[in-house]
Amino acid sequence: MPRRTLSLDDATRSKDLTGKIYIVTGANSGVGLETTRQLVEQGGHVVMACRRVDAGNEAAASFDGLKGSHEVMRLDLADLQSVRAFVAEFTAAHRRLDGLACNAGMVNMGGDLQRTKDGFETTIGVSYIGHFLLTELVLDTLRASAPSRMAIVSSVVHAGSPRNRPDVDLDDLNYERREFSNMRAYGEAKVASVLYAKELAERLRGTGVAVFSVHPGWARSNFGSGGSLPMRVAMAVMRPFSRFVSDSNEESAQTTLHCLLSDDAPNHSGAYFSQSSILYRDRECRNGGWPMETPNPNARNMDTARKLVERSYDLVGLERPARPAG
Ligand SMILES: NC(=O)c1ccc[n+]([C@@H]2O[C@H](COP(=O)([O-])OP(=O)(O)OC[C@H]3O[C@@H](n4cnc5c(N)ncnc54)[C@H](OP(=O)(O)O)[C@@H]3O)[C@@H](O)[C@H]2O)c1
Repeated sequence: MPRRTLSLDDATRSKDLTGKIYIVTGANSGVGLETTRQLVEQGGHVVMACRRVDAGNEAAASFDGLKGSHEVMRLDLADLQSVRAFVAEFTAAHRRLDGLACNAGMVNMGGDLQRTKDGFETTIGVSYIGHFLLTELVLDTLRASAPSRMAIVSSVVHAGSPRNRPDVDLDDLNYERREFSNMRAYGEAKVASVLYAKELAERLRGTGVAVFSVHPGWARSNFGSGGSLPMRVAMAVMRPFSRFVSDSNEESAQTTLHCLLSDDAPNHSGAYFSQSSILYRDRECRNGGWPMETPNPNARNMDTARKLVERSYDLVGLERPARPAG
């Protein structure tokens, strides 16, 4: 039986976004590129935050003739100095921010422990810590532009299986003392993304800024393409079969777009939204949901979420914001 993918409704798809400004990280490829294309098609202005500016410009050539506009700015999430420089460039050019899509991500297909410029384990450094700093630095602009939204792209991998639920290791987030596993690091980075969305939603309650975490589906993107030769051969062999159960990048962009644009999403700030996905080990989750409850209790633990965020301020060298009283 054909799989039912969740798609934007007509009202959301036809909203006029003229005058609205978005940031999409990893906008040159896969899910980020199709998220950007739809926002531009509806008249928005998208700041494409790309590690490789030339790849961003090349990808954006396909937006010719669309109603909205775009610009490419350099952002390397594996370098906190680059994150700070990006925010300085963005805030010098723009006074408002209607939506932020923390979309970029990677998994270390080489398998060996690698570190970012600032010494973080690379998967967590790029997917979570770099986005944490970016978000905290643009939060005032998001607040000042309310109602505004942000979507943090997680993954089905955060859910694990009933026998093995990933969790963040607050005592050794950075693999200083543990044995490294690339998929464990990816799962942890994506649990961190779900927890951060929950903590931020709690912190921003009443401000008009809504925050969501997202599983985009199984995207036929460039994800994981940098693996070893046997891995690349295995993926090439699987590709014709996986077409029946995987999603186009456009289908995979639908959940982020729903979070950024639909009238209903802000009623569920802090929630997890998922495209349908055969990759869930919990069968009952496979239809996805806008929103749905994550099957991983570790990704719903607010105590861990608050501790993770506390730890993250120290890691990126930011002062903690004053928490609202009450
Ligand atoms: N593909 C899937 O089935 C799947 C499933 C679940 C979740 N996801 C998540 O979906 C998101 C989008 O992935 P995708 O599938 O669209 O893969 P993709 O085509 O590989 O796109 C990933 C994007 O992230 C960017 N990126 C990687 N490292 C970066 C860094 N240090 N700084 C800034 N940008 C960086 C990449 O830039 P370059 O082109 O320069 O490398 C690229 O633009 C990721 O967060 C991924 O974890 C994907």
